[in-house]
Amino acid sequence: MNSSADTPGASGPLEATLASERERAVTVFQGIQDEAELRRVRATFLGGKGSIKDLMKQIPSVEKERRKEMGRSINALKQWVEQQFDTALAALHHARLEQALGASVDITWPGRTPATGALHPLTQVTQELVDVFSTLGFDVAEGPQVDLYEYNFDKLAFPPDHPATDMQDSFFVRTDAPKTLLRTHTSTIQVREMLSRKPPLAIVSPGAVYRRDDDVTHSPMFMQLEGLWVDKKVSFTHLRGVLDAFAQSFFGPEVGVRLRPSYFPFVEPGAEVDIACIFCKPWERNAKRTAQCRICKGSGWLEILGCGMVHPEVFEHVGYDPEQYSGFAFGLGIDRIAMLRYQITDIRLLYENDVRFLEQF
Ligand code: PHE
Repeated sequence: MNSSADTPGASGPLEATLASERERAVTVFQGIQDEAELRRVRATFLGGKGSIKDLMKQIPSVEKERRKEMGRSINALKQWVEQQFDTALAALHHARLEQALGASVDITWPGRTPATGALHPLTQVTQELVDVFSTLGFDVAEGPQVDLYEYNFDKLAFPPDHPATDMQDSFFVRTDAPKTLLRTHTSTIQVREMLSRKPPLAIVSPGAVYRRDDDVTHSPMFMQLEGLWVDKKVSFTHLRGVLDAFAQSFFGPEVGVRLRPSYFPFVEPGAEVDIACIFCKPWERNAKRTAQCRICKGSGWLEILGCGMVHPEVFEHVGYDPEQYSGFAFGLGIDRIAMLRYQITDIRLLYENDVRFLEQF
């Protein structure tokens, strides 16, 4: 640029530069697709070494009376350049936005399904069990997981040397007194309910229980649901009827039930209950399939719970008159029922909370 702009008049070299820079600003920003490039071009006008700085520097060499006007003209050019730049930048942003929106706003696309959680399989099975027993007339009762040794064993007529009370089987909690443990069954709830209510009563009590057991079918914490029905003249027939109704509504109307004599300190008589194998379906009389069934190991039966008539001694311990009242009790492992229902072979899967496992339910 010519810095010896001492020629007076509107057509001096300064005016010429002003005019040509004004022209240049009109076209130079057009068609630039890149913001950095736009800014680089802007700097050729407004930067430290830009043409406008250059023009400013020349003001002192202009005749005094024209300096003010020159200053105004340069300022006007500056504003003009800014305007051209802003317009070009806005156009660039707008084009970008159009491009982005044009690609994604297609209203014919299917919506995105938000990820939803689901209840844990054990919770689902617990709720189903509770539904079945509610229909049969049972209330739901709950109780603490840390409970008295007395409620867990003594009141249920466990003899003091019974192996279930052994340190090997129970988790004891260190307290000053009285003796306390993590309940080994939810029968503690039955004791609590009987101590606080008068008969008749019909309850089911679901919840976590603890035993020192740990392998593919046993977990140190597992879930039980126990039932108790006490009234005048409750008999073993009622127990059988409730078990049949439960098995058929939970596993299907064809599923038969079998009772085998068994021993539990708090019932007399006591029994273990099997259902017909829901995998090889022996009621369909396919003997070969049953013989090969890996779930029931060819027996055609699956053990699901323990039961019996409440022992008169238990009634005495909770202040019920065994001459007047009778009742039955049963207890099942919710984990076992869930494993059967979903053919889960390792109980630990139920407690590891691996999302890949849980997503299947
Ligand atoms: N409480 C027993 C257990 O945990 C189950 C059971 C309940 C058996 C009621 C008979 C009657 O093993």
